[in-house]
Parts: sequence; C-alpha cells; structure tokens
Amino acid sequence: MNNAVTRRFGGSNQQVSAIGQGTWMIENASPVAAVAALQRGIEHGLTHIDTAEMYGNGTAERLVAHAIRGRRNDVFLVSKVLPSNASRAGTIKACEQSLQRLGTDHLDCYLLHWRGSTPLTETFAAFEHLQQQGKIRAFGVSNFDVDDLDEALSIVGPGKLACNQVLYHLQQRAIEHKVIPWCQRNDVAVVAYSPFGHDAFPSSQSRGGRLLAEVAAQYAATPQQIALAFLGRTAEVFTIPKSVTLAHVEANAAAASLQISTDALAMLDNAFPRGPRPRHLPMI
Ligand SMILES: NC(=O)c1ccc[n+]([C@@H]2O[C@H](COP(=O)([O-])OP(=O)(O)OC[C@H]3O[C@@H](n4cnc5c(N)ncnc54)[C@H](OP(=O)(O)O)[C@@H]3O)[C@@H](O)[C@H]2O)c1
Repeated sequence: MNNAVTRRFGGSNQQVSAIGQGTWMIENASPVAAVAALQRGIEHGLTHIDTAEMYGNGTAERLVAHAIRGRRNDVFLVSKVLPSNASRAGTIKACEQSLQRLGTDHLDCYLLHWRGSTPLTETFAAFEHLQQQGKIRAFGVSNFDVDDLDEALSIVGPGKLACNQVLYHLQQRAIEHKVIPWCQRNDVAVVAYSPFGHDAFPSSQSRGGRLLAEVAAQYAATPQQIALAFLGRTAEVFTIPKSVTLAHVEANAAAASLQISTDALAMLDNAFPRGPRPRHLPMI
C-alpha cells in the first residue's frame, strides 16, 4: 500500500515524500535485507531516497541501484559530494561516479555533504554545470548554518537552493532557532537527518521516553512514529529515517499520515526542550 504524503521540496519545485529513507550504514545489513527494506519503503511511499558517495565508500549507492532498478521514475534520488571532492572538477567527477554506481543518468538533487575548505563558488559552479547537462535536477547543501546559507544564497541567487539537510531529532532541536526560519523565508526545504538520534532514541525509562510511550498509546502508534510526526509538524521539514527492518520501514511510512494534537505537540515540546542556540550547528 502506498500511503505517500508529499510536500513541495523548496526551490526544486517538486513534490517529494515527507518521510523518506536514509542509507547510511545500510551495508551493515545483508545486501538482500537492505535492498528488500528500501523496496518495501518505496512500495509504501517512502520514495525520497537519501544516499552519499561516502556511505560505505559507494556500497550504499550500489545497494540503492539494486533497489530502484525498474522504478527509477518512482523515486526522488538524492546523493552528496564529499567536501574533499568539492572542487569544480572534483564535484563533476564525483557526481558522474555516483551516477554510475546508482545505475541512473540523473540525480533529483545533489548536495554538498558539509562545508570544507573549497570555496563554495567552485562547488556551485559544478552544480550549475551538472544541472545544465541534465545530470542533476536540483542541488542543495547539508550541515549549513545561517552564515553559510547567506553566503550560498549570495552566490547562487534566490530560488536555486533546494534544501539544507541537517541534524534534527527530539533531543537535538538547534535548527529551530535560526536554520528553519531562514529556510522558510528563502523557500529552501529542511531535511532532518538522524530523526531517531542515529543510535540514541530516548530511553523508555526517561521522562521524555515515558511521555512518548503515553502519546504513542493514544494514537495506537510507536514512539518512533510520534517522533516523526513531531519533527514533521512544520510544512518545510522532511525526515529521512534509515531502516533495514521491514516492520520499521512500514511503521515509518504509516507515520506520514499521523497527525497528533496541538496538546500532544506541546507536551513533547516541554519534555524535549529546544535549549539555547549552540555556537556551532551540531552535526554527526
Ligand atoms: N547529511 C549528513 O551529514 C547526514 C548525517 C547523518 C545521517 N544522514 C542521513 O540521514 C539518515 C538517517 O539517519 P541515521 O541513519 O543516522 O539514523 P536514524 O534514522 O536516526 O536512526 C536509525 C536507527 O533507527 C532504527 N529505526 C528505524 N526505524 C525505526 C522504527 N520505526 N522503530 C524503531 N527503530 C527504528 C534503525 O534500525 P533498523 O535499521 O533495524 O530499523 C536504526 O538503528 C542516514 O541514513 C543518512 O541518509 C545524513
């Protein structure tokens, strides 16, 4: 059953599934399990697939290639260039290698994984070249705080940045201070990575974990589904949970249509406080 809930993906102007699928470390599962999980997710509407040349040194992209074979047009495919490859020539080469591993002729969106020492002008020149060639449909950034976003916008101009992919989970809400508002003002999608905290989901023994369980019981849902509903409560925010477990994939897909009350959102807001804005944008 495909229960896709889509949202407009910033400057790309495309409708993209609000919940997608991450692929970091999927190669730790058996290839059969990883591919089956991605395919189950696509069938259930988790068509926004996030990968990167870094993940398993290209292994994750190869697994994605298997999962999307014959259904390329059903997915919104995102990959990322490493900062160490992000010169003009290096970005073009890295993209071509990603396309080859992914078995496709284009990416729907290509991101700079995080900012390194290469001037942004070089990377964006490569992105624009790749876009003109039809090898990428849109481009964006990852792990950018507002100063970096200002600089990026001043280089590429309005309407060009599709997204900023950033760390966002119940226990790490730093982007709510400035990054989400900046992205809302500038029509840039926010993609929340590690929505379950990577490997640190709130313990069921903690105060927040107990509240998650209570809210989940009210909605016949799981705590993870409640977390996805909370993070996706803002229209510009997409989430990309990673899962190689079929039951988890199905639960993540079902969370797309879960709407929780403003009272429940307020209780979660209180149990997982945003805290002060840190000096540096957190990333993992
Ligand atoms: N741009 C960046 O710098 C950056 C950095 C980190 C991550 N990312 C992207 O974001 C994606 C997601 O983040 P992440 O991989 O760090 O971690 P995550 O999605 O926060 O958490 C993954 C963990 O949650 C479990 N899980 C998934 N669905 C579940 C469910 N419904 N119920 C219970 N457990 C569930 C997974 O186990 P199972 O596999 O067994 O389900 C896995 O242990 C990455 O895969 C990657 O694509 C980007």
